[in-house]
Amino acid sequence: MTFPVRFLDEIRARVALAQVIGQSVKLTRKGREYSGLCPFHNEKSPSFTVNEDKGFFHCFGCGAHGDVITFLMRSRHMSFPDAVEQLAGQAGLDLPEQTPQDREREKRQAGLHDVTEAATRWFEEQLWKPSGKAALDYLLDRGLTEDTIRRFRLGYSPENRTGLKTALKAMGEPLLVEAGLLIQPEEGEKRESFDRFRGRVMFPIADRRGRIIAFGGRIMGDGQPKYLNSPDTPLFHKGHNLYGWALAREDAAKTGTVLVAEGYMDVIALHQAGFGNAVAPLGTAVTEEQIELMWREVAEPILCLDGDAAGQRAAIRAAERALTILKPGRSLRFATLPAPEDPDSLIKKSGRGAMQAVCDQAVSLSDTLWRVKFQTLPIATPEQRAGVEQQIKQVLGVIPDEGLRRDYIFDFIRRLRDASRPPPRVRAPWQPSFGGRPQVARARTYTARDSQGKVVVAGRMPSPVPRPAGETQEKLLLLAPLAHPALLDEIAERLGEVAFTDSDLDKLRQEVVIHAHGCASLDRQAMHDYLRSRGFSQTLDCLLEASAHDYTRLIKPDVSLEEVRRAWEHIYGRYRQKEWAADVEQALQRSAADLTDETFGFFNALWSGRDHGGDI
Ligand code: UTP
Ligand code: MN
Repeated sequence: MTFPVRFLDEIRARVALAQVIGQSVKLTRKGREYSGLCPFHNEKSPSFTVNEDKGFFHCFGCGAHGDVITFLMRSRHMSFPDAVEQLAGQAGLDLPEQTPQDREREKRQAGLHDVTEAATRWFEEQLWKPSGKAALDYLLDRGLTEDTIRRFRLGYSPENRTGLKTALKAMGEPLLVEAGLLIQPEEGEKRESFDRFRGRVMFPIADRRGRIIAFGGRIMGDGQPKYLNSPDTPLFHKGHNLYGWALAREDAAKTGTVLVAEGYMDVIALHQAGFGNAVAPLGTAVTEEQIELMWREVAEPILCLDGDAAGQRAAIRAAERALTILKPGRSLRFATLPAPEDPDSLIKKSGRGAMQAVCDQAVSLSDTLWRVKFQTLPIATPEQRAGVEQQIKQVLGVIPDEGLRRDYIFDFIRRLRDASRPPPRVRAPWQPSFGGRPQVARARTYTARDSQGKVVVAGRMPSPVPRPAGETQEKLLLLAPLAHPALLDEIAERLGEVAFTDSDLDKLRQEVVIHAHGCASLDRQAMHDYLRSRGFSQTLDCLLEASAHDYTRLIKPDVSLEEVRRAWEHIYGRYRQKEWAADVEQALQRSAADLTDETFGFFNALWSGRDHGGDI
């Protein structure tokens, strides 16, 4: 019987999960969770957890996962209706009345199951008859054993428009049509219905409990379509089922993983070679529902992909789909086959060891995603890096679990940082910039840009960032060009990119940079006059006044420009190095603790500016 979703939710809400599980598993409370020894596999230390808030149990050892209903079904081998009935009694809920429509639908579905089962048997019979010899030979020639053929219940549909129709006449034509076994031409009564599958090797498709719900039929030899599949029916929705799942479930739970191949023949060849945990989607890319289906039993399904472009595209699609439903403790891995093989041909050519090697080299979801989506993007310039970061944030932003999303983004930002860490630096000779207003960084502000270079995040840091770089260094960095304006030719660009702690000093810095870019030749007196006219008299006096005591050498007119330049470079190098290291560290900590747009933007900005500073 089918239960309304609301009724099932009510049961889950009313029944205390830990209490039900506690009846058969000794649980210890650990914060918000309970833990204990997993009842579904043998273990000595507890990896089985129960989360009452979220209403599920999860075993980190074998991947067993589910809610209170699943628990009863698995631990006490109860059917779904029985488990629900027992829990409803415990929760004091009456079982919902079945409507006549419900009863009608169930009867029809039961009827459909009977039809597909009868058809499976009939196709099997045809295969083993003398008239099925060509089909049987085809399968044997492809390396399948008789055992395998029987285990997968392979069959044969004769080249006859009414073979099955006649054989199963007693079950009623409408039901055969509804099960997708007969095709009813549009015009209805005028034209007779006829067998959908003719002259094909038949692959019955089972649901998770092993009941046949649909068929795939392969043409023997060349011809189109290579495979003909049942249409969607009340029993069969191709995106919700996996070929081989019923046979693979047990091995999947035992091994903790499942191999997802592309085709029927791959699944069968894999099983025959000892990979009893192989399944395949049904002629489409792996869907979210199929991933969820596998995640109920195992933590990390392995997708076996072709080593060609199509395989790569499939990897991207599957990876992106998985992100939208990713949850803690659940992921995918990707195994790439050597082109042009599929698992079936690889096993035939190189044996099961070769297939095992492919599985052993499966790559994690995060590594795959990085490789197929980001690794090859250009990251030579700050703009490009900012663009990539923006994309990282977009692509990973779909991960529903907040903690996981944050971890993923930071993992990828680190990858980007590692990828763009330059070889040891030799400072390039300064190149004059032609035209354009210089970019002047303001104290503790940031901007982050998208791939078009548009500012998408800008603002102030939430709180002042403590700066190890000394105020003395900042003063010297400004004083040197104030005393020797010719220096600005070389340093204005870089002076425009730093941000001083002291806000007055920082405003003066900005003004100096702007002035430097606006003037063809720089004269000390003219510059000072200009700055005073802009209201900086006091700051300027303070700076020069202090310098009279402390930094006299640097501002003496008779010191050579070369010496000033060397001094400035030295101070600047140390200043940026400290500033960069401190800021990155701080940003990382801040962001790890609380990834808001603001902190993320700040990190972006820091990162974009990285090639002006030293390595950390
Ligand atoms: P493949 O073309 O890779 O075929 O399709 P295969 O599984 O390797 O089969 P063999 O070895 O040539 O016999 C992979 C899967 O895509 C679906 C089927 O599920 C098939 O197993 N498919 C393919 C179709 O549904 N229809 C088609 O015409 C082709
Ligand atoms: Mn194949």
